[in-house]
Amino acid sequence: MFNHQSALAIESVRLDDAANAIILLDQTLLPNETNYLTLITQEQIWEAIYELRVRGAPAIGITAGFGLYLAAKNIAADLKRTDGFDQFHVSFKKAKAYLATSRPTAVNLFWALDRLDACVTRNAQKSIAEIVKALHKEAVAIRDEDEQMCKSMGEYGLTLLSPGMGLLTHCNAGTLATARYGTATAPMYLGHARGYHFNVFADETRPLLQGGRLTSYELNSAGIDVTVICDNMASIVMKNGWVQAVLVGCDRVAANGDSANKIGTSGLAILAKHYNIPFYIFAPTSTIDLNCVAGNDIHIELRKPEEITTRWYTHPMVPPGVKAYNPAFDVTDHDLITAIVTENGIARPPYSESLLKMVKG
Ligand code: MRU
Repeated sequence: MFNHQSALAIESVRLDDAANAIILLDQTLLPNETNYLTLITQEQIWEAIYELRVRGAPAIGITAGFGLYLAAKNIAADLKRTDGFDQFHVSFKKAKAYLATSRPTAVNLFWALDRLDACVTRNAQKSIAEIVKALHKEAVAIRDEDEQMCKSMGEYGLTLLSPGMGLLTHCNAGTLATARYGTATAPMYLGHARGYHFNVFADETRPLLQGGRLTSYELNSAGIDVTVICDNMASIVMKNGWVQAVLVGCDRVAANGDSANKIGTSGLAILAKHYNIPFYIFAPTSTIDLNCVAGNDIHIELRKPEEITTRWYTHPMVPPGVKAYNPAFDVTDHDLITAIVTENGIARPPYSESLLKMVKG
């Protein structure tokens, strides 16, 4: 059944301290079913990330942070009386390495795991119980900071927009993909509350339909005007003059501004340039990876062909034996990006200079 509660009230990922579990909205079932999973084991958490039950770079990072904290708590409980920090740390690193294999492109996953690892190192002189307590605080901070970052990106993003604009977005960079507000959707939510009356076009986003299933669901539930289009219809809505800005999220931004986001994003940027429409990337600093010099350094996830050929269909839509190529992301060249909106301000070209300033705060 459709749930008519505004999506802004939804917590797509939360930590249940009493149950030692992550409570996660299964995004693979939306919009038809609102089902919360209780994830206890590391295997369940890994599977939820891999299968996109939780997805979107910030939400993946939040889940990984909670997951590694829960692993640490279990490791601490299983230690023998003679075991010390070293035994704890070896098992902790193993748990970290395991979660890091769940998905390769969104840097927020590695950023969150590294943050917890740094927390362990910082507190190495303390008791294991105190280290676990510090990890709890760090994991909760990752979630809470994300909500603040999204709100701040929303305010900065809104300065680029005017009431009544037509906006186009791709995939789901929404509240479901973050702690709240989303990244690219944050100005839509804030603008809506201030009477901006945006008309949003949501690309359906083949092959996993994050735009059709998730973005339209959440914007519609909040009362924002949203129209779903198939990915190959972006050009016609732009040509019709219905789009004044393209707003998308991202999974990893390289130091030169090249930005990886859901497959199809780079094509949209090329179209936007053709039609002279500003193209904005929304990136919390947790998604900026200064260790990647350029887009070529970003690992692009390849997923199963069945997501194209059979998923969503009663019968296969491609003849048996035909190959299907299924990269989950592509990289938009920095020179196609009008600006990159972060929680610390709006980065403009040259990005190698402006992103550095944003990351330093
Ligand atoms: O494969 P997904 O659904 O995890 O891909 C998500 C995206 O590409 C989002 O645009 C990106 O993670 C930003 S979410 C705020």
